[in-house]
Amino acid sequence: MGKLGILAVVTVAVTAATAQTFQRLGACPDLGCVLPPDQSDFLPGQYFDLRLEVHAPVNGSEAFNNGEPDENFTVTITKEGGESKSIAEFFDVAEPELEKWDFHWYEDLFAKDAHAPSVVNVASKIYRKLAIYEPGNYVVTLKYYDGQTTTANWVVRPLATQKKAKNVILFIGDGMTTNMITAARLLGHKSINGKYQSLLQMDQFPVVGHQMTHSIDSFITDSANSASALYTGHKSTVNAMGVYVDSSADFFDDPKVETIVELLKRTWDSAWGAVSTAAISDATPIALTGHSRSRYAYGSLIDQGLNSVTNYSWTNQGGPDVWFGGGAEQFYPNSDSYEGKDYYEAFAKAGYEISLNKTSLLELGNSSRALGIFCQSHFPVWLDRNVFTENLESFKNDPLGSENPALDLPGLKEMTLKAIDILHTRGGDKGFFLMSEGASIDKQMHALDYDRALGDLLELDDTVRATINHLKEIGELENTLVLVTADHGHGFDVFGGVDTKYLSAQENDRDKRRAVGIYEQAGLSQYTVPVEGVSYGTGPNFPVNWDPRYSLAAGLSANPDHRENYRVHKKPRKVVSNTPGFSKNDLFVDSKDSPDGFVINGTLPVSESAGVHSLTDVAVFAMGPCQETFGGVYGNIDIFYKVANCLGLARPDNKPPAGPGSGCKKHQGQ
Ligand SMILES: *[C@@H]1O[C@H](CO)[C@@H](O)[C@H](O)[C@H]1NC(C)=O
Ligand SMILES: *[C@@H]1O[C@H](CO)[C@@H](O)[C@H](O)[C@H]1NC(C)=O
Ligand SMILES: *[C@@H]1O[C@H](CO)[C@@H](O)[C@H](O)[C@H]1NC(C)=O
Ligand SMILES: *[C@@H]1O[C@H](CO)[C@@H](O)[C@H](O)[C@H]1NC(C)=O
Ligand SMILES: *[C@@H]1O[C@H](CO)[C@@H](O)[C@H](O)[C@H]1NC(C)=O
Ligand SMILES: *[C@@H]1O[C@H](CO)[C@@H](O)[C@H](O)[C@H]1NC(C)=O
Repeated sequence: MGKLGILAVVTVAVTAATAQTFQRLGACPDLGCVLPPDQSDFLPGQYFDLRLEVHAPVNGSEAFNNGEPDENFTVTITKEGGESKSIAEFFDVAEPELEKWDFHWYEDLFAKDAHAPSVVNVASKIYRKLAIYEPGNYVVTLKYYDGQTTTANWVVRPLATQKKAKNVILFIGDGMTTNMITAARLLGHKSINGKYQSLLQMDQFPVVGHQMTHSIDSFITDSANSASALYTGHKSTVNAMGVYVDSSADFFDDPKVETIVELLKRTWDSAWGAVSTAAISDATPIALTGHSRSRYAYGSLIDQGLNSVTNYSWTNQGGPDVWFGGGAEQFYPNSDSYEGKDYYEAFAKAGYEISLNKTSLLELGNSSRALGIFCQSHFPVWLDRNVFTENLESFKNDPLGSENPALDLPGLKEMTLKAIDILHTRGGDKGFFLMSEGASIDKQMHALDYDRALGDLLELDDTVRATINHLKEIGELENTLVLVTADHGHGFDVFGGVDTKYLSAQENDRDKRRAVGIYEQAGLSQYTVPVEGVSYGTGPNFPVNWDPRYSLAAGLSANPDHRENYRVHKKPRKVVSNTPGFSKNDLFVDSKDSPDGFVINGTLPVSESAGVHSLTDVAVFAMGPCQETFGGVYGNIDIFYKVANCLGLARPDNKPPAGPGSGCKKHQGQ
C-alpha cells in the first residue's frame, strides 16, 4: 500500500498473522477434493464453479503413488432418488481441460522450523458457472486412484421466489461483540441507580439472534471469509472472499460462488451500494463483489467491483450504484491501483459522479451513480474526527494522493443517508440493498485502543438511529429489512473501574494494579457526567467526558504484551515495537505507550503486534419485513439465506422472474 495514515500499523500487523495448525488444503482432508465441499448449501439458481483436485504428495507423511496424481479421475452428481450423471451431462456443459500444478505446505511447526515443506503434485479440472435449480439433496462423487472416493453432500435449500422486503440495509459493526455494545452503552448513555435513561438504537430492535462465525477450515475467522459467508451463503477460508480456496498458485482461478448483489442485480435489477469507514477495497465492503482468495489483491478487487469478474465469464453485478469509503490509493493512478490505471477516470467514464470530500458528498444529486472516496487507507476514527481533531493534520491521506491531510471528511452517518437517497431514487420500485460498515471498531480493537473502537461503535449506532428516522421520512421504513450485526468477535470486555489518578501516582506495576476497582469498587460510569469547563460538543448518545478520572478497566487476554493506564489515548495507539538487539518478530511493550501505566503480559505469539479476533457468537438485530426469521442461534451463512428468502432471490429455472420492476418498466434515473 502507498502512503498510509497512522492506521497502517494495524493493517500490517493483521496480515502478518500465521496459523499454527497447518493444513494441506482446508476443506479437503482426503487426496481428492471437491469444491464446494461436503456440507455446502446453495440457493436455487445461484451460480458457482466446481473444482476437482486429485493430490499426489511427493514426500512427507502422506507420500503417495510416487507423486503421480491420477489424471483419469471421474466425477458424478446424483440427486437424492435420481440417477447418477457426469457433471458435463447433468449441467449440459463441455468437459474442461485437465490442469496440473504442484504446491507445498508445512505439516507442523517442526517441519517449518526445519524448512522441510511437503510437496504435492495435483491434477485438476474446473467447471465454471453452474447452477442447480431444483431444491433437494445432492451427492457429488469424485473417484480416483482406482477405488478411492471423496463425496460431497450438498443441499439446495427450498426457498421463496417472492419478494417480502423491497429494500435491505445491512449494518456491519466489524468485530462488534455484545461486550463492546454493552461498554459503548455505558459510555454514551446515562444511568441513574442502575437504570438507563436512554438506550442505544440497537437495544430497541424488536428481534435479536446470534450467529456462529467459524470459517470453513478454522474456528476463528477473518473479515474476508466471514463477510463472504454473509453475502454468499458459503463459508470460506481466512483471507478469501467469493471463492473456495483451491491449491493452485493463481489468486484468481479459485472456484467462485455468486454473491447477494450479483444475484439481486440479475434477478430484480435492484440498486445496490456499499458504505464503509474502511478503504472500500477492504474485506467487508469489497466481498460483495470480490472473487479472490487474497483479500490483499486490492487493485484487482476494485476492478472487479466496477467491471465484474473479467478473468472468467461470470455474472455481472453492474457496478455499484453507490460506493462511499476510503482507500484512495486504489483509485488515483499509482502502483496500488489495478495496472496503474486511474480509477477515478474509469468510474467517471462509466457515468459515476465522483466526490472526494464531505462538501461535495452533500451536494451530490440523487439520480446518478456515485463514487465517494474521501481519503487514503481507512478513515481517521470518530474520536479523531470529532474530539481530537488536531490529529487529522498528521494524516497524509489526501484522496488525490498528495501528502496533505484529508480534512473535509464525512462520517458514517452522512455517507449512509446520502447512499439511501441515491439508492432509493435509482432503485425505484425495484428496491435496493445497502451494506454500511463501522469498520474501525475492529481495527481499533486490534490496536487495543478501546476508546477509539467504542467511539466508532457509537457512531455506527448513531447512524442506525438516523437511518431509521430517514426511512420513516421517505416512507420506506415498512418496506425495509434493517439488520445490524458483526462479522466476528474480538477479545474485549470490561471487568471493573480504574482510578487513573491513583494509578498514575504509584511507582511500581504491582501498586498501580491497586487502582483497578472490581465488583462494588468498579463504581459507576463517569463518561456521562459533564465536567466543568470541558465541552466535547459531540451531542447526545456520545460521552460528555472521554477522559474521566474514574475510567473503565477494559480488555481481555487475546493481546500482545502492552502497558495500560486505562486513559483515553489522545493520539492513535501503538502498544509494542521492535527493540534494538532483538529480532523484528520479538516485540516488546512500546516505551512511549501509556508510560505511567503498568505492564500486562499478553498471550499471543510475541511476533503479534495487535489483538486478535475471538470465537464468540455475535448478535444479529433485525427490524422490518422477515424480522421474525432472525431470532435464535444459527450460522453466519444462514443470514444470506434469510435475506435471500426475504428478497425472493431463489430461481426455479434459469428464466428471469416475473414481478414488480421486471419487463418493460424503465429504471428510474438512468
Ligand atoms: C489415463 O488415460 C489416458 C488416456 O486418456 C491413458 O493414456 C492412461 O494410461 C490412463 N492412466 C491410467 C492410470 O489409467
Ligand atoms: C520434500 O522435497 C523437497 C525438495 O523437492 C524438500 O525441499 C523438502 O524438504 C522435502 N520435504 C520433506 C518433508 O521431506
Ligand atoms: C485476472 O487474473 C490475473 C492472473 O491471475 C490477475 O493478475 C489479475 O489481477 C486478475 N484481474 C482481475 C480484475 O481480477
Ligand atoms: C471538495 O471537492 C471539490 C471537487 O469535488 C473541490 O472543488 C473542493 O475544493 C473540495 N473542497 C475541499 C475543502 O477540499
Ligand atoms: C435527495 O433525496 C432526499 C430525500 O428524499 C431529498 O431531501 C433531497 O432534496 C434530494 N436531493 C436532491 C438533490 O434531489
Ligand atoms: C512478563 O513476562 C516476562 C517474561 O516474558 C516476565 O519477566 C515479567 O515478569 C512478566 N511481567 C508481568 C507484569 O507479568
